[in-house]
Amino acid sequence: MNESLLRYEQLASELAGMIASGVLGQGDRLPSVRRLAKERRLSISTVVQAFRQLEDRGMIEARPQSGFFVQRPKTLHAEPALRSTPEAPMPVDISQRLVRVLQACMKPGVAPLAAALPAPELLPVAALHRLYASVARRHPRLLEGSNHFNADEPALVRQLVRRSLGWGGPLATEEFVITHSCTEALALCLRAVTQPGDTVAVESPAYYLMLQLLESLGLKALEIPTDPRTGMSLEALDLATRNGGVAACLIVSNGSNPLGCVMPDERKRAFAALTAARGVAVIEDDIYGDLYMGSERPWPIKAFDKAGNVMLCASFSKSLSPALRIGFVAAGRYRSAVALQKTINSGGTNPITQLVLAEYLESTAYDRHLRTLRRAYQKQVDAMRQAIGRYFPASTRITQPQCGYVLWVELPEAVDTSRLFERAIADNLAYVPGELFSASGMYRNCLRLNCGNPHTPEIESAVRRLGAILSGY
Ligand SMILES: Cc1ncc(COP(=O)(O)O)c(C=O)c1O
Repeated sequence: MNESLLRYEQLASELAGMIASGVLGQGDRLPSVRRLAKERRLSISTVVQAFRQLEDRGMIEARPQSGFFVQRPKTLHAEPALRSTPEAPMPVDISQRLVRVLQACMKPGVAPLAAALPAPELLPVAALHRLYASVARRHPRLLEGSNHFNADEPALVRQLVRRSLGWGGPLATEEFVITHSCTEALALCLRAVTQPGDTVAVESPAYYLMLQLLESLGLKALEIPTDPRTGMSLEALDLATRNGGVAACLIVSNGSNPLGCVMPDERKRAFAALTAARGVAVIEDDIYGDLYMGSERPWPIKAFDKAGNVMLCASFSKSLSPALRIGFVAAGRYRSAVALQKTINSGGTNPITQLVLAEYLESTAYDRHLRTLRRAYQKQVDAMRQAIGRYFPASTRITQPQCGYVLWVELPEAVDTSRLFERAIADNLAYVPGELFSASGMYRNCLRLNCGNPHTPEIESAVRRLGAILSGY
């Protein structure tokens, strides 16, 4: 590759990043070739070549006598299809590989495309820091307590009950248990309703930490086909639970991770009825519920649960800060079993953090912050989809998430994302290989990308380089 080739590609990628991030909007005029060449100390032909490449990708168009203008991308991406899954439950064995992948992705300088984490600048961390100082000052005896049994702060539970009005509630105060995180809430629920060796139905593809929890508790995973638009297949769940033998079902009905799908209300209602009738305890994870893309917050399955059979788990890791380490479960009729597990496994939850969160939720700041955050996530997801369309192999399929901010990408069959991971990391690029979302090792031609960061030219360049690796050159 000669030097001018690299330069024009670099310029094209920078401009593409500015278009993707909205710095250059649809219909905007690009600086003239002459001006860019002068400003960037490039030759005219290098700039022309960069413009030509953007033209070929359908990102800009030349208008006679007027220059180059940003145009709306024409590519419409196909979405992944529903896949069938193995009929038998299986033990899970992903933890070692998962930890290796996640650790590699934390190496300094690696593009933040793997873990589903938001960019710190999108979060109200300064306001939360101020609240920590203020709460600690106003409540100087909070750290004197040693109560393992009833450490939930009533002020926080009150705020959660108030917010539950927007989840099809209100939920009862007595249902709640405050936890260290959503992950802890899920683990406590699993411990409360299963024994080692039991089978748990999961979405396929499933969030890898859920699979890891099953592995650590000696539970088997029964993968249920999941539609990238409408969520877990009820028909498949019906068949799988007909003869008993499924103790629980783990589900993310709003913004499934990695598919981003939202189960329609009618299916949620049917799901609640079916699982209650079959004696399958439901552990619902609603961590992405507040991060919807549509006009209204989708209700969780819990809103349709008449039997107290749904344990609703969530946290504020995706909307306020993953470092808060605070979550909750509204556990329905399993509440006392879950509370017992909380006492056995970790005692109470940090009282200062509980009060900080209660005060933050009480103000109007959270809803204002959520509005801004939803817009940012939507823009970032759109920009990432466009970038994937530009650089990934031609028949790549991409999800159209309705909640959350991860994308599931299905590549041509021959692409093995686990095998290519080392090459990607060597170039400071990261993703989560698809096979880690399945107990049976499906999805080797898939991967998940995080869109939690603003779509900067650096992210655009990372997607371009990743596209080159996945395309085999
Ligand atoms: C579906 C889902 N549940 C739970 C978590 C983890 O939440 P927490 O940080 O509260 O443990 C994540 C984070 O990626 C997630 O995607």
